[in-house]
Amino acid sequence: MDVQGLENEAESAIAGASSLAELDDARVRYLGRKSALKQALREVRDAESGRVLNTLREQLEQAVAEREAALSGADLERRLSEEQVDVTLPGQAIPRGHLHLVTQVRRQVEDVFLGLGYRVVDGREVETTHYNFDALNLPTTHPARSHLQSLFLNDDVVLRTETSPSQIHVMEEGDPPVYMISIGRVYRRETPDATHSPVFHQVEGLAVDRGITMADLKGTLLHLMRALFGPEREMRFRTHYFPFTEPSLEPDVSCFLCSGQGCAVCRWSGWIELGGSGMVDPNVLEFVGYDPEEWTGFAFGIGLERIAMLRHGLPEIGPLWQNDLRLLRQF
Ligand code: DAH
Repeated sequence: MDVQGLENEAESAIAGASSLAELDDARVRYLGRKSALKQALREVRDAESGRVLNTLREQLEQAVAEREAALSGADLERRLSEEQVDVTLPGQAIPRGHLHLVTQVRRQVEDVFLGLGYRVVDGREVETTHYNFDALNLPTTHPARSHLQSLFLNDDVVLRTETSPSQIHVMEEGDPPVYMISIGRVYRRETPDATHSPVFHQVEGLAVDRGITMADLKGTLLHLMRALFGPEREMRFRTHYFPFTEPSLEPDVSCFLCSGQGCAVCRWSGWIELGGSGMVDPNVLEFVGYDPEEWTGFAFGIGLERIAMLRHGLPEIGPLWQNDLRLLRQF
C-alpha cells in the first residue's frame, strides 16, 4: 500500500477538521476498525512493514489527539467569550411588595392588644339578623335594619354592618372573663364619597370581667391611641347612644397634627372623632347568659380606614380600595 500517500491524506484531513465532529469523522476513516491502515495491520506478515504501519498509526493517533486538544480549547475560548457576563453591571432589581396600608394598621392594632393579653378572633362577614341586630339589642324599628341601609341576602341574612356581632359569638362560646378584639370587613348600603365606602374595616374590642369600669375603657383606648398617634395623645368622651352599650360614648383623641391647637385635620376643634364605645349593656350580657350583677364590660368599635387616613393625611377613602400602586407604594 501507498504508506506515504495515506499519511499525507490522513494528516491533511486531521489538520483540516474544523470541528470535533469533523475530526471524529477523520479518525473513523483513517484509524477506525474498517480503515485501510487497520486492515493492513491485520494482514501484515513481515516485521519491517509492521513497524512502518505501527509508526504511522501512532503518528496519526498523536495528530488526532493534538487536533482534538486544539479544537476543544478553541471551543472553550469561543464559549467563554460568547457567554461572558459582566458581573459589574447593575442587576435587574426585583420589585418587592409590602403590606397594604390598612393591613399595616390592622397588624399594629393587633400587636397592641396582644401585648395587653387580648385574644384576636375572626368574625363572620355574613351574619344572621339575630347576631347582627337582635342580640345587640337593636329594636326592630332601628334604621340599620332597613334594606335601604344594609345589604341583605334574604330577610334573615345580612352582610354584617359592624363587627359588633363578634362580641356575641365570643361570649356565647365561653365564660367570662373575656378580652378580645376582632378585625374585619363590614358592609353598608352606602354611596361612595370622599369618606364613605360600602365596605370598610372595623376593629371591635370587648373586655368583660369583674369590676370593669369606664376608667378601664378610657385607659385601654388611650393606650391604643398613643401607639397609633404618638405618646402625647389624650382622650375625651362625648355621650352618645348605641343599643348595646349603656352608657354609650364617642371617644375623641387629641389632634396629633396640631396637638389640640386647632387645624384642618381636626376641623379647628383640637379633637378627632374615632368611633363608638361604651359599657356593655346588661341586656346584652343577659342575652349570652352572663350575670350582669357579677360581670361588667366595655366595648368599642373603630374604623381602620379612618385611622389610616388620619395618620397619613389621606383626604379620601376610595384609593384604599382601588389598588392603585402609585398611591399604595407610598406607605
Ligand atoms: N358598632 C358601632 C358602629 O359600627 C361601633 C361601636 C359602638 C362598637 C359602640 C362598639 C360599641 O363595640 O361599644 O357604629
